[in-house]
Amino acid sequence: MSSEIEVGFERLSTRHDRSAFVCEQSSLTDYLLKFAGQNERSDIAACFVAIAPNTARVLGYYTISAHAVLESELLPEQKKGLPAHDRIPAFLIGRLARDITMKGKGLGELLLIDAMARLCSIEAAARMIIVDPIDGNAGAFYARYGFTPLGQATARLYLPMKVARKAVGAMRSGSAS
Ligand SMILES: CC(C)(COP(=O)(O)OP(=O)(O)OC[C@H]1O[C@@H](n2cnc3c(N)ncnc32)[C@H](O)[C@@H]1OP(=O)(O)O)[C@@H](O)C(=O)NCCC(=O)NCCS
Repeated sequence: MSSEIEVGFERLSTRHDRSAFVCEQSSLTDYLLKFAGQNERSDIAACFVAIAPNTARVLGYYTISAHAVLESELLPEQKKGLPAHDRIPAFLIGRLARDITMKGKGLGELLLIDAMARLCSIEAAARMIIVDPIDGNAGAFYARYGFTPLGQATARLYLPMKVARKAVGAMRSGSAS
């Protein structure tokens, strides 16, 4: 989807107006309103918000955290080439949602691309990006971008960091041309 909307991404701060934010999942609406700031302050999850230029109103958000996957969670083919380690380093996109007024305008995609690009720019090793879709619709959304089930746990999806880097690189060279 090539989005017509113009948004910037910023780390959540007190300058942002979250009060009107509503998405289809009440737990994800509540998280932004009640818990995102607290989780920022306690270094549990970094929250990034999408805002329209020259405004403070939050139109969407995502959170990212360092994470680890147990080696035993992976299928044999997902362990290929990995040295024996109990825990595999990963990044987690813990939450991602856009305001209901922005439905179908490409903001979900912009949020996911910004999260992936940000994770690819971190100078720390991680094998994969993990997401835990809240329901089947969210799972179908992530699947469009190459996320596939991790191990036997059908709910949890992952994207190898190598694939994410390629996708981000392709998007950057596409937007530069
Ligand atoms: C999932 C969510 C982020 C999608 O955001 P959106 O802004 O409506 O989606 P976009 O307009 O960016 O769509 C991007 C592409 O994904 C597709 N898409 C969107 N929702 C989809 C879904 N549920 N299943 C499959 N594809 C989906 C769109 O058709 C579009 O594809 P196209 O390029 O071929 O047109 C949004 O529905 C949302 O915030 N839901 C509530 C919270 C939630 O479920 N978050 C998921 C994380 S747990």
